[in-house]
Amino acid sequence: MASLTVRQLDEKIKKQLRLRAARNGRSVEDEVRTILRGAASEGNTFDSLPPTEERRSLDSAREAATRRILLIIGGGIAAYKSLDLIRRLKERGAGVRCILTKAAEEFVTPLSAGAITGERVFTDLFDPQSEFDVGHIRLARECDLVVVAPATADLMAKMSGGHANDLATAVLLATDKKILLAPAMNPRMWGNAATRRNVAQLAADGAVLVGPNEGEMAERGEQGVGRMAEPLEIVAAIEGLLARPAAGRPLAGKRVIVTSGPTHEPIDPVRYIANRSSGKQGHAIAAAAAAAGADVTLVSGPVALPDPSGVAVVKVETAQEMLKAVEAALPADAAVFAAAVADWRVGEPKAQKIKKGGKTPPLTLTENPDILATIAGRKTKRPKLVVGFAAETERVIENARDKLRGKGCDWIVANDVSPSTGILGGDRNTVHLVSASGVDSWPPQSKDQVAKTLVARIAAALGQAR
Ligand code: C5P
Repeated sequence: MASLTVRQLDEKIKKQLRLRAARNGRSVEDEVRTILRGAASEGNTFDSLPPTEERRSLDSAREAATRRILLIIGGGIAAYKSLDLIRRLKERGAGVRCILTKAAEEFVTPLSAGAITGERVFTDLFDPQSEFDVGHIRLARECDLVVVAPATADLMAKMSGGHANDLATAVLLATDKKILLAPAMNPRMWGNAATRRNVAQLAADGAVLVGPNEGEMAERGEQGVGRMAEPLEIVAAIEGLLARPAAGRPLAGKRVIVTSGPTHEPIDPVRYIANRSSGKQGHAIAAAAAAAGADVTLVSGPVALPDPSGVAVVKVETAQEMLKAVEAALPADAAVFAAAVADWRVGEPKAQKIKKGGKTPPLTLTENPDILATIAGRKTKRPKLVVGFAAETERVIENARDKLRGKGCDWIVANDVSPSTGILGGDRNTVHLVSASGVDSWPPQSKDQVAKTLVARIAAALGQAR
């Protein structure tokens, strides 16, 4: 067999190869091998190979095709879209078994769902026939993924409380499979404190959400966040969750925790101490880790960003809540602390709004727990790789080195956040990866690209730690 030397290729191709290899977390040689393998197996030429992202989605679609989905349809107007979802999944070769809640039967019938799945549809917990031949425990286990679409406010409330008084909730309680929720409800119901609590609990329990989206509601004149994700968006989330470990998913089977955004430390019920962090970098890291196949929990302070899809998001306000949520998400293989946690909180926040006019109130501050240092210093359940961030306005590398030692983490991603850099709140970032073995300075790039490069590094490090 003739051998091919990468060094002899022309500069432009070498550059493209290097970029592609870095993006996919492979060596250049491995990248060339992957391209040639793909070209040989599919009769493709180098030029006609689809871009990496498309190839990845083709691979995951192929994987999803051999899997069984248990689809639970809740009672909401969006239930009609779930019939289309079944059709889309069947088109891709997936097996779909369907459970309808009592409320769902008001919107779609077992007959229509059964006609599209080509299988019997299940509705009753105490149906002697189905308990005899399938039973709720088998329904809960004989699938690769449970999808709830539409996930109504009521169904999610029951799930978060561990109820099991009908077939859908009993199956959801009994399953040992991953659960994907596609919520759909009126925007006020979605924003209600009870729903927020339930969603946070479900995310902390490991459920993954897709949507809801913003837009018009079925009720005339109602608009906001609450529309169920479109069937193809749900299919994409399903494909992401079902993809088996593959070259393009180097973090498959790994658990990653990411913190993101600022924290808000209350002064009184209406005022708080905060900072300018947008959460863009942390959210991008969570999204990149999920795209690389990791099971990701994103613990986020208040941000104006949408939840990355395929990620369990736990929303918190204060540093103390963030620490609790991170500890609850352990064990993990890697943890990335990108949040701009407030260093201090008000010692005794007032229960009532402080009134103007009297003496100017003093603010007595108390130091917040250092989440990164606490997790890095754990004797048990310490993630194999603990990564911190250092936002500095001077002596960036020296300060990062001090932080690496002081906090006991494995890597520090250091960046210069002087106002002139536009990094805080901006879309680009210039970072240096500081570890015990040295400093690696990356060229200026988008926060998404920083996230992808960091995730490729994490995957490589965890691969070696195996
Ligand atoms: O000490 P400093 O705030 O500069 O350290 C930054 C790093 O430590 C970041 O990774 C940040 O997420 C983390 N941190 C933390 N808890 C704190 C303060 C910072 O996790 N209370």
